[in-house]
Amino acid sequence: MCGIVGYIGPRQAAGLLVDGLRRMEYRGYDSAGLAIVNGHGVEVVKAAGKLDNLEQRLQGATPTGTLGIGHTRWATHGAPTTTNAHPHTDQSGRIAVIHNGIIENAGALRKALEGRGHVFKSETDTEVLAHLVGELYAGNLEEAVAAALRDVDGAYGLAFVSADEPGVLVAARKGSPLLVGVGDGEFFVASDASALLEHTRSVVYLDDGEMAVLSRDGYRIRNLETDFIDKPVNQIEWDLATIERGGFDHFMLKEIFEQPESLENTLRGHLLDDEGSARVHGLNMTDDELKQINRIVITACGTSWHSALIGEYMLEELARIPVEVEYASEFRYRNPVVDEKTLVIAISQSGETADTLAAIHEAKLRGARTLGLVNVVGSTIAREVDGGLYLRAGPEVGVASTKAFTSQVAALTLVTLRLARLRNLGIMQGRAIIEGLRKIPAQIRQILDRAHEIEALADQFWQSNNALYLGRGVNFPVALEGALKLKEISYIHAEGYPAAEMKHGPIALIDENMPVVFIAPKDTVYGKIVSNIEEVKARGGRVIAIVNERDADMARLTDFCFVIPTTLNVLTPLLTIIPLQLFSYYVALRRGCNVDQPRNLAKSVTVE
Ligand code: F6R
Repeated sequence: MCGIVGYIGPRQAAGLLVDGLRRMEYRGYDSAGLAIVNGHGVEVVKAAGKLDNLEQRLQGATPTGTLGIGHTRWATHGAPTTTNAHPHTDQSGRIAVIHNGIIENAGALRKALEGRGHVFKSETDTEVLAHLVGELYAGNLEEAVAAALRDVDGAYGLAFVSADEPGVLVAARKGSPLLVGVGDGEFFVASDASALLEHTRSVVYLDDGEMAVLSRDGYRIRNLETDFIDKPVNQIEWDLATIERGGFDHFMLKEIFEQPESLENTLRGHLLDDEGSARVHGLNMTDDELKQINRIVITACGTSWHSALIGEYMLEELARIPVEVEYASEFRYRNPVVDEKTLVIAISQSGETADTLAAIHEAKLRGARTLGLVNVVGSTIAREVDGGLYLRAGPEVGVASTKAFTSQVAALTLVTLRLARLRNLGIMQGRAIIEGLRKIPAQIRQILDRAHEIEALADQFWQSNNALYLGRGVNFPVALEGALKLKEISYIHAEGYPAAEMKHGPIALIDENMPVVFIAPKDTVYGKIVSNIEEVKARGGRVIAIVNERDADMARLTDFCFVIPTTLNVLTPLLTIIPLQLFSYYVALRRGCNVDQPRNLAKSVTVE
């Protein structure tokens, strides 16, 4: 996720801004920049890559001035280049903006502005905001920003400065965190308290829809309707390390809790409620080309491979297209049946996994069209595929993948909707899926609110040496993913199976020491899963069940039953995985494991 910092006060701004950006480095970023207001106008300096690159550019050429804004970018629109880095300026070059979030109607706004003669330099949605404010500017930055925001849809944390008002910084928040730092005769804005902690511990947290107007004498909070809102000043008591993790003990836990928001970002701008379909321009394929696809191969590794299996289920069930899921590491060594009529989809959080990249190369050699569902913008896989969709889950720091998984499943649902609506899926079914998707973030919040229940469960099971995860249909891959999460961070041996496979071997393992996790929302095979649970119970196994209804069977057969909210069957993995992520986290914690950096694992596997 991007980082925002702004300063107004008596001191030189540039150094303070770079220090603030340095504090937010842990969030991950791909470029950085700052804008300083001084007697020469607004001076902007930007650089792709690490903050060191920006510092190098500043050497000997640091703009002087006591008002400025700085930004680290994690790309969502446009590659991570210097041109796309923030700040962006308006047509006159006198107004500069930094932005976190996604502007949903940027395309339409840009078109209209171009029609009125505006010329854009970057591919970003942010530059549109600069031009919009520039067009509305009549000597009052605060009013121009307020007026512009009335036309903007989407999520943002914003900070603006203008060469014509060297004593004003205007910030705004909707869906992306922002706070004002209240110092001694100086004021800050930041997306993250870590950026200003060195200078002050007094902060005002902005809520959605609010703006902050900072001057050298003070600050004022307002919204689009009223020009003054009384807000309390809070004292930050956390230390820096805690702040970097957003108050959570580990990045993994933070990322688990971020899922309502990361999923909203993945879905943002893609859902066509009326048509019961999805807008996925990134596929770069016409309706006719999409209709001609007669086979799909999805290739990935690890957690991404598990989301691919869920995609297979959805695409076959709803779009009726035959799908094969291939481990990327196997793909090129087994003479895959892939030709120009096959669509090959690569799924990768990092976009750098060597095996997945090699699979894409192989698919291209064989003439297939390739798509990528990738989180890191501008990564190698994202650049090499013919089209695709960014996950927009934000940077994932914890080695164990959590929020990228749910975003991958959501992205696959979008691709499925797009393909299925061109084929057999009726509009009402499409609308029902969209309605279901829109509810998922709130339903995940409901589950997260009950994390303490899973923590208590972990207290009972953390000393186990083995665990079995069983699920059916679309929840079989969730069983695999639940088992992978547990083994990679707690080093407990765990396996996932389709529930009915248990009797063909794994049942031999079951005794009173074996926890068996059933993922069993009510679906067409629910009755059969109940029989599988009976089989485990009969052998003294301890049963944990993730269900959407605790009926009489579940009450009788399970040792622990966690009820998730009800959704459509195809969407259940987005909910059933949450308690399993939490379970692995709390078990690993009890076992004293390094949750964020489990032994032997790397976040991005760039070797074969
Ligand atoms: C598991 C995990 C790995 C990755 C795998 C693929 O928690 O993180 O299994 O899913 O290495 O990585 P990406 O998705 O970056 O290609």
